[in-house]
Amino acid sequence: MPIKVNQINDWVTEIVDFDCASMTAEMQEEAQEAFKLRHVLVFRDQSLTPTELKEFSKRFGPVEVPINQMYAHPECKEVLILSNEIRPDGTAVGLVDGGDGWHSDSSHLLTPAKATILQSIKNPDVGGDTIYCNMHLAFDALPEATKARILGRFGVHNVSKTINPRMTVSANRPDAKEFYEKAAKNRPSVLQPMVRTHPVTGRQSLYVSPRFTIAIDGMPDEQAQPLLDDLFEYVYDERFQYRHVWSDRDLVMWDNRCLNHKATGNLAPGDIRRMHRTVLVGDEAYYSPEGRLRS
Ligand code: SIN
Repeated sequence: MPIKVNQINDWVTEIVDFDCASMTAEMQEEAQEAFKLRHVLVFRDQSLTPTELKEFSKRFGPVEVPINQMYAHPECKEVLILSNEIRPDGTAVGLVDGGDGWHSDSSHLLTPAKATILQSIKNPDVGGDTIYCNMHLAFDALPEATKARILGRFGVHNVSKTINPRMTVSANRPDAKEFYEKAAKNRPSVLQPMVRTHPVTGRQSLYVSPRFTIAIDGMPDEQAQPLLDDLFEYVYDERFQYRHVWSDRDLVMWDNRCLNHKATGNLAPGDIRRMHRTVLVGDEAYYSPEGRLRS
């Protein structure tokens, strides 16, 4: 029986009456088909345990083990807890700054994320939305002269916030400064095509972000930084965006190969947001001038 969908816009779909914990092979195939056409899939009312979330995620591809194990779920090292909650002993339940700034997950790794699956466990009364920016649309809308400046070029991506002037180290995460200082030393930058070709559809999208792109390979900073600033100012336009306002038990799966996203924050004081996240490992990003699949 075909799955039921409720189209939110051209690239965001709600999958209706779908139990992720008991997904059959047929349902999986249909969800996978939907994911080829739409970049964000929304599943409502899912109550997966961390292990069920991992198992559901694995059906779509290998799951990353997060580098920051300090915030992994104690029952499941693949599931990262994103939360602002503080335990009575003062320690943090989860990573508080995981969604800071526009980014595509794991673009600081040579094999960046294919998809992210995020499940809402406790949603705040106010705030805590996630905004997605469709980087296909953003790329298509760029002036031709800007496209010519970036096609075939590589961005320099690094996970550390301490070497990224566009980011600030979160004051409300006690281990952040030390973590990012160590990362700056131990985690080398990687090069990613500024325009990448989607490995399934062959379509081009812009693949840079203020969170991870700190320079442009082979371009002096006097030219590269203003170019990045212009891109960042231009692309995060509401025309290209979808804002997900979470309900408890929503589960959202998105395509990092053609989207940027960010958490909006703005929670009321004392309110709690808790999410469980898995990330699916992707392939090395590539650019093909014809905008076709790699042969
Ligand atoms: C993320 O950036 O992966 C998480 C986004 C969010 O918490 O809304």
